[in-house]
Amino acid sequence: MVMPETVLRASRPTTPVEVDSFRPNAARMYDYYLGGSNHLAADREAADALLDAVPLVAEAARQNRAFLGRVVEFALGRGITQFLDLGSGYSSPEAVALAGGPGVRVVAVDIDPRVVSQVQLDARVSGRGAQVGAVHADLGDAAGVLGHPVTRRLIDLDRPVAILCLAVLHFVPGPLDRVLGPLRRAVAPGSLLAVSHGAATPTSAGRTRSEGAARPAAPSPASISRLIYDCTLTPLTLRSAPDVRAALGDTELVEPGLVEIASWRAPESSSPGRSGLIGGVASL
Ligand SMILES: C[S@@+](CC[C@H](N)C(=O)[O-])C[C@H]1O[C@@H](n2cnc3c(N)ncnc32)[C@H](O)[C@@H]1O
Repeated sequence: MVMPETVLRASRPTTPVEVDSFRPNAARMYDYYLGGSNHLAADREAADALLDAVPLVAEAARQNRAFLGRVVEFALGRGITQFLDLGSGYSSPEAVALAGGPGVRVVAVDIDPRVVSQVQLDARVSGRGAQVGAVHADLGDAAGVLGHPVTRRLIDLDRPVAILCLAVLHFVPGPLDRVLGPLRRAVAPGSLLAVSHGAATPTSAGRTRSEGAARPAAPSPASISRLIYDCTLTPLTLRSAPDVRAALGDTELVEPGLVEIASWRAPESSSPGRSGLIGGVASL
């Protein structure tokens, strides 16, 4: 079968993601948390196990979607109408296009070929086929992503672009500056880089055991999350706020900096929420 141009790979993704219906999958589990319809039994089983142990996960997905909305609004306020949605998942590209209106252009990039096909199909069905494109690539392949025909058709790299890296970098192992650096350097001044990332929380490792306290500590939400995502092809790497900040290099952060995403430019009327994700927006 000849794949349409819009789902051609930039190059071979470095993280192996096969289409396997029996293995839980991060994109489909996230879609399940958000109440979407792109999930299979294996995804629901893994997601339910995680939700049972760490109910905050459902709120994290909702807060992350609200954060996306506020980031898009902020970018539009800066006159940015081009969005590079890295690790887009199923529904974020349509949400960005809908929030931005007919003038925006969105390129969704995902390592999962099913996501890429579905994003393309959804865009056609919603009549946004000329606005939204999808690229099958590993976000770490900056040259492949930026040089892909779909990106070149929809995004003018001589003008500012908002790079969205929401709830994806914790699926990328190793030093993040190596992944984000080439992207940051390739875009026009005035561009933005938005991130949200699962926060590493203190673990019981290193805790002093007091005498007589022989009961083992309950596993932390972080360790349960890692255990469950280890069953997928994209295991979790939770990072601390300083590590996420370091990945953004010497960029300046838009106020209020890198914070719990529920409080990033949240409306004053809203009650303070919590997601367990840290995030912010860097000016490039
Ligand atoms: C939790 S979803 C986040 C979706 C979306 N960014 C949002 O915030 O609504 C993570 C997505 O990142 C994708 N992903 C994971 N590792 C990736 C990589 N190295 N390159 C591109 N996409 C990746 C997964 O396939 C999945 O669709």
